[in-house]
Amino acid sequence: MEKEQQYKAFLPQLAALIEGETDEAAVMANASAALATEFKWWWTGFYRVVDDELLLGPFQGPVACYHIGFGRGVCGTAWKQEQTVVVPDVELFPGHIACSSSSRSEIVVPVKDGNGRVRAVLDIDSTELSTFDETDRLYLEQVADIIARQIYA
Ligand code: SME
Repeated sequence: MEKEQQYKAFLPQLAALIEGETDEAAVMANASAALATEFKWWWTGFYRVVDDELLLGPFQGPVACYHIGFGRGVCGTAWKQEQTVVVPDVELFPGHIACSSSSRSEIVVPVKDGNGRVRAVLDIDSTELSTFDETDRLYLEQVADIIARQIYA
């Protein structure tokens, strides 16, 4: 199936999955499971903003680092810039934090509350180069939006 069609089918499924649940951990846990099951990426999960840094949240995949500072790595950069960061080759991204040597490309999408404040990031890693493009950015920002409206409303 085309990636775009896959995302289009996925969005309403995600909305239905988290409907009625407002707990941050519970929603992030099922959202990461649903994304990982559907798209089979290497690492799919969340870091939450806690006490001025990013703290590891619910995820699917290998173990990962707990703390990421503001502006550090791809996750901290997406937080600082308040926008999605697409990295075709992590070795070419200055300051990339290698939680796993198998990660080759990555996308990080901020999850913002109703005031536009970044409360978490959705981080997805692939074992292949250039996995993520503008289609992923477009639809994963909608994924982040669906989640944010549910838990940060
Ligand atoms: N690579 C990320 C760190 C998190 S792990 O990939 C799960 C980064 O540079 O921010």
